[in-house]
Amino acid sequence: MTSQLLTIEGLHVSYSTREGAIPAVADVSLSLQQGESVGLVGESGCGKTTVALAIMRYLGANGRIVGGRILFKGRDLLQFRPKMLRQVRGAEIAMVYQEPTTALNPSLTIGTQLREVLHYHRRAHKPEATERIAQMLADVRLAEADHVMAAYPHQLSGGQQQRVVIAMALLLQPSLLLLDEPTTALDVTIAAGIVELIKAVRQKFGTSMLYISHDLGRVMEVCDRVYVMYAGQVIESGSTAQVFNAPRHPYTRGLLRAISLPGVQKQTRPLQAMRGQPPEPSQRLVGCAFGPRCDAFQPGLCDAGKLPLSDVGDASARHHVRCVRWQDIDTLDTPSATPPPTSVAPGLEILRVAALRKYYPLPRRGRQERYAGRTSPLPLRRARARLSRSWGNPVLGNPPWRRWW
Ligand SMILES: Nc1ncnc2c1ncn2[C@@H]1O[C@H](COP(=O)(O)OP(=O)(O)O)[C@@H](O)[C@H]1O
Ligand code: SF4
Ligand SMILES: [Mg+2]
Repeated sequence: MTSQLLTIEGLHVSYSTREGAIPAVADVSLSLQQGESVGLVGESGCGKTTVALAIMRYLGANGRIVGGRILFKGRDLLQFRPKMLRQVRGAEIAMVYQEPTTALNPSLTIGTQLREVLHYHRRAHKPEATERIAQMLADVRLAEADHVMAAYPHQLSGGQQQRVVIAMALLLQPSLLLLDEPTTALDVTIAAGIVELIKAVRQKFGTSMLYISHDLGRVMEVCDRVYVMYAGQVIESGSTAQVFNAPRHPYTRGLLRAISLPGVQKQTRPLQAMRGQPPEPSQRLVGCAFGPRCDAFQPGLCDAGKLPLSDVGDASARHHVRCVRWQDIDTLDTPSATPPPTSVAPGLEILRVAALRKYYPLPRRGRQERYAGRTSPLPLRRARARLSRSWGNPVLGNPPWRRWW
């Protein structure tokens, strides 16, 4: 039987800037049950990352939760003191960031950064921690654990770095994993490998996941349910099958028309870009924020005031939509068929690469260990420790960019 793990009720988050307060999240409610994988999708700037950072309470100096509640295992996270929050982060809720390069400390070896997590939360000694880390690196399918532990982040590829960040997030077997666009910074084949890994991790550890992405195809693969966000609000939610097979909001339909779906030919279903851009948070309109981009906009109805979330079908179906015309959408929404693109004849060759080779020499083992800090001189070790303190650790808290903003 499943039980409620995370409940967010009416969350409002605002960033203060020189131009005034930016209402980045304006009324988000969502829930996630034990073992469930839930997607949060929407275009850039709609507030997805802000929701995840609000759950972690990592909003930085200018971010503030101005309304709502976040209940984790029935406890209100907004009432937690800093010490309690530090205990929850990493151990119970962990986050994987979009850009693994910025999530890892460039001045410390992977082994040191992973051991730090086990030492802080479990007071684990080095041999015990090293054994646990080697196992976890194998679980995220990173071969040669010794080599990875001795390496600095820049000595690993983007895909390997993201596997390390996932391993770090899973080290303490948290109940909830927040994945913020974990594949966006990676190329397509590496990204596919990371998605496979995320599915395998879910099966092996039963971890609940909030999977944030603007890539609906990935969400379809990974998630049981999905929340679609637009301009800081949830505008549609339901099971993955409901939202993808029978979307009710014109925005969700627009998103789906703009992506290629598995097994569907581009010639029979040409991709269609959505017109316009999401509004800036400071320039949102009264009524439906999607109005200026919506073909079904009706003056006096869509711009009359705050829009409620309506049940599609009965309440037990848990399919909700924030659109006053959702019942008419099927008859109104007839996208014009774009003709398939005609092929273009190739022109003159402008670049040729022939038999290119590039090698990176690996440092010899002894040198690597010296770099890893075992025999480095004291001033160097002190400088590294200072840098480590100012950089932070993505699982233990204070990721660097939040401190610098
Ligand atoms: N630290 C910040 N200070 C000011 N504005 C911010 C900050 N972080 C995010 N924003 C603004 O909040 C809105 C939502 O951002 P974000 O949550 O990052 O969206 P998403 O993850 O969906 O791309 C955007 O308009 C963004 O510019
Ligand atoms: S409320 Fe009106 S403007 Fe908004 S999505 Fe629905 S039909 Fe379009
Ligand atoms: Mg984001």
